[in-house]
Order: sequence, then C-alpha cells, then structure tokens
Amino acid sequence: MVDWRNPPRLFIPGPVLVKDDVLQQLARPALGHRAKEYAQLQQETVDLLKKVLFTNQYVFLSTSSASGIWEACIRNCVRPDETVLATCCGAFSDKWADVVRDCGRNVDVLKVEWGKPVTAEMIDQKLCSGKYAAITLVYSETSTGLINPVYEIAEMMKTKYPDVLVFVDAVSAMVGMPLHFDRLGWDAAFASVQKCFALPPGFAVAVVSQRALDKSKTVPGRGYYFNFELWAEAAEKHQTLVTPSIPHIYGLRYQAEKLVNEGMENVWKRHRQMADYVRTWAKANFALFCEERYASNTLTTIKNTRAIKVADVISAVQKKHNTVFGNGYKKLKDVTFRIAHMGDISLPEVKELIGWIEDEIK
Ligand SMILES: Cc1ncc(COP(=O)(O)O)c(C=O)c1O
Repeated sequence: MVDWRNPPRLFIPGPVLVKDDVLQQLARPALGHRAKEYAQLQQETVDLLKKVLFTNQYVFLSTSSASGIWEACIRNCVRPDETVLATCCGAFSDKWADVVRDCGRNVDVLKVEWGKPVTAEMIDQKLCSGKYAAITLVYSETSTGLINPVYEIAEMMKTKYPDVLVFVDAVSAMVGMPLHFDRLGWDAAFASVQKCFALPPGFAVAVVSQRALDKSKTVPGRGYYFNFELWAEAAEKHQTLVTPSIPHIYGLRYQAEKLVNEGMENVWKRHRQMADYVRTWAKANFALFCEERYASNTLTTIKNTRAIKVADVISAVQKKHNTVFGNGYKKLKDVTFRIAHMGDISLPEVKELIGWIEDEIK
C-alpha cells in the first residue's frame, strides 16, 4: 500500500536517498536571512562550494530547482537579437532548447540520437559560421545516462571560440564527476541538490563567471527573481536576493564540508567504483544503453535486452524491500531502466539492490 509516511529508499536518478544525519541538518532553527548568523552560514557554504567546484568566481544559491537556472542563463546573458546553439542528446537537453525558445531567444539545435554524445567537432562545425553568442550543453544527460565529452569541448571552445558563452547543465554530474569550473572556462554550471549533493529537492547551486555577469548588464528585460546582477549584489553581503530556503543551505553546508574533507578525487573515485560495478553487471546480464566511454558515473541506463517487465520488477523490489530504482525515461520507458549511484548511496547498497533485482529476473 502506498504511504508517503513510509516512503521507499530512492535509487532513481533523482531525487536520491537522503541519509538521516543529512535530514537532521534541515531541521535546524530558522535564521533571519538578513541577520549576521545567516551571512556567516552562507559565506561558509559558498566558500566550501568554491573548493569542490574549483572556482573563484560566483557561486549562487538559488531557491528553485535547476530548471530555473536554464532560464536564468538565457534571460541574463543572451540579448534578444542573439542566437544560441542548443546541443541536444536526450530529454533534458531537448527541454533546455525549448526553454531558450520560450525565453524569446533565437535558437538553432544541434541534435544527436539519444545515447550518442555531442562532440567538439560537431560543435565546431556549427560555431565556425560565427552566428552564435552562446551554447547550451548538458554534462550528464540523465534520460540516457550519457556524459558528453565536456573537457574536450571546453578546450576546443577556449582555443577557437573564446567569445562564445558556454552554459552547462551539470544537474546529474556536479560533484559526482570532475568539474573544474575556472579551468573549463565555462560561464555557468548548475545543479539541483537532489542529485549528487544528496539533499531533498527544491534548491539549486549555480556557478557563474565574471564575464557572464558583465554580459548580463547589457541585456534588457532580465526579470527579478533570477537576475544575476541582483544576485551578485546580495552575495557581496553573503545574502541572497530574496528569502532563501535556509534548511537547504544548512544541508548544503553539511554536505559540502563532507566533500571537502573526503577530497574531490576520492569522491569521484567512489562514484566511479559504483558505476563500474553496475556497468559490469549490466554488461553481463543486459547491455549498456550508451557506449561505455560515454557512460555517466552517477547513473547507469541499462538496455532491456531480455525484455523484462521493468515496472513489475520495480514494484516487486519495492514490495519486498521498500526500495525503488528507475524506469526508462519517456520514449526509453520499458526498453531501458536506470540505476542511480550518486550522492550518499554506497557500493554495498548498490550491490544489495542489484541482488534484489537479480532475485526478480532469475
Ligand atoms: C540533466 C537534467 N537537467 C535538468 C533537470 C531538471 O532539474 P529540476 O527538476 O531540478 O529542475 C534534470 C532533472 O532530473 C536533469 O536530470
């Protein structure tokens, strides 16, 4: 019987399992968001996040999910007469292209088949026209479990198109896989916190470059809630523009400190080990949806080569173990299924889940 009071443990690709010690952080007392105590909390949180994201630029805390930052990048940094190249390789990157259009900006789409990466060469071939002011790119496409070769793309962009802004959706990548923001030369990278930060949903972290902020000052009609310039002014005082979700910031500070103490190389390695385990199992029993070198370390999309009834297996595992994993996304429903291995999920938990899935498909 469904009961929100006794929810299943989540191995879907977000929101993911939130551990009890983390949840307790969200129950700390309210603070006045213009009080010194709050400014101290925000400053400590942002300083820790700068370390885990390898940046000295702006780290903004947004009381919104990541989709708000899709819109923020465009409305702040692209003038109405400019054109964006939206790279699309799955449901989320497709949706971002729609959002660019919804913001009234011109957009050209560079589309590849779901499960295939967008490469530096493909982007180069489009950008050499000189037509584009910015590109959108998804680091880890959560619908297919694919990562784009973002480091190669970044190198190409820095060398050949240093004036084109680069906006990166790192929703299911941030902190689970390398992201050296300043070295990559990106203008925005963002994630909601219900993925690798392993917090409850409803909040996002956005890294924004100085040049994106400077550009924003030339763009008309940026709106209020997601206005980077106003965000930066508030951040000077270690505040946010509007009343933030302070419980999330308590949780984020706690998680960011854990990441700093663990060391980012170790964090990425931990994610890779879980991914390796799931991929090895998937290859032995099914097949990977993406070519392995493009497979994300934070979730695995498995091709349902044995035509198992995915929904039945998920509900059997839920019934017996009060645990759920992910079905395929939209058009990949039933032909794939997805297992998340990010955030505070551990290898023993992943192994246990795989064992339960095996019991159902024997
Ligand atoms: C890659 C990617 N981008 C964007 C989103 C949208 O994030 P949110 O629902 O937090 O706005 C998701 C959600 O799963 C995602 O996986």
